[in-house]
Amino acid sequence: MLRILITAGATREPLDPVRYISNRSSGKMGYALVRAAKKRGLFVTLITGPADILPPKTNKIIHIETALEMKRAVMKHICQNDIFIMCAAVADYRAATYSRKKIKHHNKEWVLRLIRNPDILKSTFSYAPHIYRVGFALETHAPYENAKQKLKSKKLDMIVLNCISKKNKVLGLDVSQASFLMANGAKEELPMMTKNKLAQILIDRILKNRDQDDF
Ligand code: C5P
Repeated sequence: MLRILITAGATREPLDPVRYISNRSSGKMGYALVRAAKKRGLFVTLITGPADILPPKTNKIIHIETALEMKRAVMKHICQNDIFIMCAAVADYRAATYSRKKIKHHNKEWVLRLIRNPDILKSTFSYAPHIYRVGFALETHAPYENAKQKLKSKKLDMIVLNCISKKNKVLGLDVSQASFLMANGAKEELPMMTKNKLAQILIDRILKNRDQDDF
C-alpha cells in the first residue's frame, strides 16, 4: 500500500498566551488532498495546523500549532512515506521572544522582532531524497519565475502554482486555478475548478509521474 504524508492548514506563532501571527490558509486544499488520496486507496498521514473546517477522516492525524512543531512532526513521519505533499501555509517568521504573561498595551509604538522559521519542505530533501516531494507556491507577481525557482531550490519533483489576483483569491475559497510545474520542465495549466477536483487531478498526476519516473 502506498503511503502519503500531507500537511495542511496554517501555523500559528504565539507572541504571548493570547496573541499570535498566522495567515489566511483555510485548510480546504490540504483536506481535499486527503480525501482524494484516500479515494485512491493510499494510506494517508495528515499533519494539520489550525484550519477553518474540520479535518476529514484519515488513517493518521497529527495536530500541530507552530512551524517548529510542524517540522518535528514532518521529520518524524516522512521516512515511512512514498509521497510527501507540503500544502500547509507555514508562517515564515515567528516572534524572537515569547512572553509568558500577556503583553500590556500602552500608547507608544510596539516594535516586534521576528526571526525566520525553518523551510520545512527544503530540509526534507537531504532527509528523505527518495520520496516524491510536492510543494505549493502562492504568487502575486512573476508567478512562473518564482515557482520555478522554488521547484529548483527546494529540489522538488513538482510544484503547484496558484496565482493570487482580484479574480482568483484562492485562500478560503472552494475553487482554485492552478498549474503544475514538473522537475523535468513539463508544465500543465488547469482551468478554474473546485479544490476537490483539483486534488483528484493532482493525486492522479503524482501517481502517474511516479510510475513514469520509476520511483
Ligand atoms: O517559499 P515559499 O514559502 O513560497 O514556498 C512554498 C512551499 O514551501 C509550500 O509548499 C510551503 O508549504 C513550503 N514551506 C515550508 N516551510 C516554510 C515556508 C514554506 O515548508 N517555512
